[in-house]
Amino acid sequence: MADVSAGQKARKPIMAGNWKMHHTHLEAIQVVQKLSYRLSSEDYERCEVVLCPSFTSLRSVQTVIEADKLPIGLGAQNVFWEEKGAFTGEVSPLMLVKLAVSYVIAGHSERRELFGETDEMVNKKVKAVLAAGMTPIMCVGETLEERESGQTAAKVSRQVQAGLEGVTPEQVGGMVVAYEPIWAIGTGRNATPEDANETIGTIRSMVAGIAGEAPAAQVRIQYGGSVKPGNVAAIMAQPEIDGALVGGASLEADDFAQIVRWA
Ligand code: 13P
Repeated sequence: MADVSAGQKARKPIMAGNWKMHHTHLEAIQVVQKLSYRLSSEDYERCEVVLCPSFTSLRSVQTVIEADKLPIGLGAQNVFWEEKGAFTGEVSPLMLVKLAVSYVIAGHSERRELFGETDEMVNKKVKAVLAAGMTPIMCVGETLEERESGQTAAKVSRQVQAGLEGVTPEQVGGMVVAYEPIWAIGTGRNATPEDANETIGTIRSMVAGIAGEAPAAQVRIQYGGSVKPGNVAAIMAQPEIDGALVGGASLEADDFAQIVRWA
């Protein structure tokens, strides 16, 4: 299994801001511009930076990224798996590709809980994102009830297994998985870095079982849930944790820049 030596992360860390349903396109432009003033080329070299605005802000954010040649990855928060058709309100993988989107969040717990996304739907999204040449950020995580009844590993295992069904080992290696314990999202309660590291280690072992050792050593697994400038360093000090999927603290450029520069 890949490991860290001398404080160096084994895989290139990836910090992604999930803006959820925040920021109009005008606000989004301001945040990206401000963030770009805060970050240096060394920051981007050390850590991959991704922003996931709402669909209505993708074009605006892409324009700023392109005009200023910013090494920031553009991500979408959701996608539908069909190429095109009579699917009112949905957005296809090709529509995202044409906007230079390279990452797509699949199976965020809010989509699973509030919008009825099943493991099967998440798997269809993961495969559609990969087929279109983008990278899925596949989210998994347990509820508080599941954690307290000792079902964390079983729940996450089921989600990982179902989400990766039919995905090739090579594709798995290039993916990002986000472990987001549902009880830690937007609550100010975060998993202890050690607990998060342990579950992420478990996820990596599951990936090894499904796709093999090499993809498991390659896949980047983020932690998400109340990541803030004040706790990011302790989280990133854990060897299995390759980055963070950040909600609230990614909305302000100053906070997110501090998270990107955790070291
Ligand atoms: P918070 O950082 O606001 O807890 O949100 C986490 C999350 O859901 C990121 O996708």
